Formats: sequence, structure tokens, C-alpha cells
Amino acid sequence: MDQIHVEGGVRLEGEVQVSGSKNATLPLMAAALLGEGPTLLRNVPDLADVTTLLQLLRTMGADAERVPGAERHVLRIHAGPDVVPEAPYDLVRRMRASVLVLGPLLARFGRARVSLPGGCAIGARPIDQHLKGFRALGAAISLEGGYVEARADRLRGATVRFDKVTVTGTENVLMAAVLAEGTTVLENAAREPEVEDLARALTAMGARIQGAGSDLITVEGVTRLHGVEHTVIADRIESGTLLVAAAITGGDVLVKGAVAAHLDAVVGKLREAGCTVVATPDGLRCKGPPQLHPVDVQTTEHPGFPTDMQAQLMALLSVADGTSVMSENIFENRFMHVAELRRMGADIRVEGHTAVVKGVHTLSGAPVMATDLRASASLILAGLRASGVTRVARVYHLDRGYEGLERKLQTLGARATRVK
Ligand code: EPZ
Repeated sequence: MDQIHVEGGVRLEGEVQVSGSKNATLPLMAAALLGEGPTLLRNVPDLADVTTLLQLLRTMGADAERVPGAERHVLRIHAGPDVVPEAPYDLVRRMRASVLVLGPLLARFGRARVSLPGGCAIGARPIDQHLKGFRALGAAISLEGGYVEARADRLRGATVRFDKVTVTGTENVLMAAVLAEGTTVLENAAREPEVEDLARALTAMGARIQGAGSDLITVEGVTRLHGVEHTVIADRIESGTLLVAAAITGGDVLVKGAVAAHLDAVVGKLREAGCTVVATPDGLRCKGPPQLHPVDVQTTEHPGFPTDMQAQLMALLSVADGTSVMSENIFENRFMHVAELRRMGADIRVEGHTAVVKGVHTLSGAPVMATDLRASASLILAGLRASGVTRVARVYHLDRGYEGLERKLQTLGARATRVK
């Protein structure tokens, strides 16, 4: 299994291009199932999760491939009428976002059999809100042998009020509603930029959607959708991770392609910590201060501070000149990186869903273990600041959501290498 070795103490400098968004790409790939014609997705990140979903689409009988000669960043997906609307356990267990095929399959093919995703390292992550939405649109839903069986001759528009804001739940029910008969209203919907990007593509496919990006989305159902050519938005979490890399090393980095409007809360916290962050025509530039300041953070739904940046910011605050309080309000088990940061000399105390981070002067390199995607990024960031070498094991977690992070950091001067 690969490891990434980081020798700390280098001030990062220069510019780096951010990749397309993982969390926008996955629902867009599922949405391609709705179109009667091929869909071309551009600016797709080259990630393990994308490979898994391509495999799932092919298993169902869709044409799904990376377009040759496009550096693995362009996908062509075409689902004909003979698709088998089933997502097997073996693929869904590898990537729980596979559940995003449920809405499109149900809407276009009238039935879907999808393995129930289990929990994951960061939480139980049930899909009750997804199923609540499909039932409201008139689908018959049953759970059998670990699979969700969903059926509906034609879905009917309805009002769906989510009891909890859910990103993929909003996306899944939105993709079902676009082919339902009549009007659907999604209340307490997720407002993430990835939901907006999905709505943009669906609208270009012929759907009628109002209010994406707000907590109230209205959909006028149509009878059919066509394929589309769509360019995926930049990855705001990768952008945030690279901004933190600049800040934690006292560096000066331009993250090209970063969208300021998608990162308000993250930029706000970096500025509170003493960083200079400016939006430029190309992206976002971050200059780290000689000394970082403590900051209190609460993770919430967009446009609040994203839970997917919590671990990375914790690495930064572990070397601030004071005490920060971080509250994780989205997932019940997202402090797995704390024990590993402590191995590097961080002073962090966890009480329930709150972590008290007492900044230390220096971290020291150590062998550490990645436990989930964002935790692995946090350990690499801490390694950039630590004295000596940090050896991060189980980086397959990282490869699920970052395209060549160590290569990008190398272009900024980091001594980060992948060791097979
Ligand atoms: C999306 O996951 C992202 N994944 C996650 O990114 C991200 O952390 C999360 O949204 C929150 O921003 C993708 O977009 C592929 P949720 P999702 O449904 O949709 C509870 C990363 O690092 N809930 O918004 O699965 C749930 O347990 C990943 O890239 C229910 O109770 O998250 C959680 O506590 C990790 N019932 C909360 O809501 C439901 O039916 C928010 O989850 C659905 C969710």
C-alpha cells in the first residue's frame, strides 16, 4: 500500500491548478442516466471514486468511459433503454455515493434495485431522507436482503420537506423529480455549490428547475431529457486544502481555478487566523502569517463552514498561538485524525463533538495512519509544518478525493513523495 512521506519545514510558494470537483462529478455522472443521448463531462478529476462509478454504470449496461486522449478528465456516458437498473453491493460498499443512481433509475426506468450503503468511518450515514423523498413522489420502496427496491410507473410531483439538510439526498430526489408528473417542491434543501452545478446540467438537459442553491427548490416535471455537454465546477475542498497548505507553511500560493464565492466561510476563518487571502482573476491567493492565531469553528451546512475542511483546519490550528474550539455538527465520528495529530505532538482534547485545540510551537514528523479522505489530507498538511519526516500510511483514502495531491504540493516546493 502506498505511503506519502513529507519532509516538513519548507515555505510553499507559486501557483497550482485545482482539479474539478469530486462531489459535483459523482451526481453529474448519475444524472447522465436520465438523458436519452450521450453526455460529455469535462474537467472531471482523475480519482478512484470516479473509476468506481464508471464501473457501476458499465455494470448496468451503460456506455461509460474516459474519452481517450483527454488526460482522463473527460467522460462520455450514454445510457440506452436497455439499462439494468441494479447497483450491486460489491460496488456500492466501495463508494456510498453510488446511491445517487437510485433517483435517476427510478425516474427514467420506473424501477431500481440498489444496495443499501453501510456506514463509514465518519458516521452511520443513513439514507432515510432520500427514501422519504422518493416515497413522497409516489414510489413503492422496500428493503430486502440489504437492497433498496424502488418502483413507480411514473413519479408524481409533491412537496418534500427534508427533516435534515442532506446534500446527496437533495441531489437524488431532485434527479427523480425532473421526470415526475407535475410540480415538486424541495424544502430545507441543501444549498451546496455541487447541488447548483447538478441543477445547471439538468436544466441544460431539458429539465425545469428553480431555486437551486437556496433551501427551496421547485421542479416542473418533463417527460424526457436529452444528453448534455457540461464542465464540472472546481473542487472547493481541494482549493481549501491547498490554501491551508500555504497558510500552515507561512507560504504564498495562488490556487488557480478556486472559486471565491464557494469558499467564503473557509476564507473567513483563514483571515481570522491571520492569513492574507485575496481573490484574483485566476483564483484565490493565500499568504500565511509569521504566526497563526487561534480561531473557533463550527461546521454547518453550506454556506457555513464545511465539515470537509474541518480536519485540514485543525492541523493549522494545532500550531496557532493559542486555543481554538472546533465543533463538528454534521458527522458523529469525524475526529479520527486527532489521535494521529497528537502522535505528531499536537495538544488536542475531544469532548463529544467538540475538540479543544491548544496550539503548540512545533510538530514533529512521525509515522501516522490515514483513517478517511479528509483526515489523510490533514496529516499531510501537518507534515508540511513538522520537523523531520511524516510517513502517512493508507493513502488510498486520499486517492479517493485528491488527484495527485503530493505532485501538486511538489510544484509549490514541498518535499512530499509517494512511496510504493
Ligand atoms: C455529502 O455527503 C458529501 N459527499 C460529503 O463529502 C460531505 O461531507 C457531506 O455531503 C456534508 O457536506 C458527496 O457529495 C458525495 P449528507 P452526504 O447527506 O450527502 C445525515 C467528502 O469528504 N443524514 O449531507 O452523504 C447524515 O448522517 C465527503 O468528500 C441522515 O440522517 O452527506 C449526516 O449526519 C465526506 N439521513 C448529515 O445528515 C439521510 O437520509 C449530512 O449528511 C441523509 C443524511
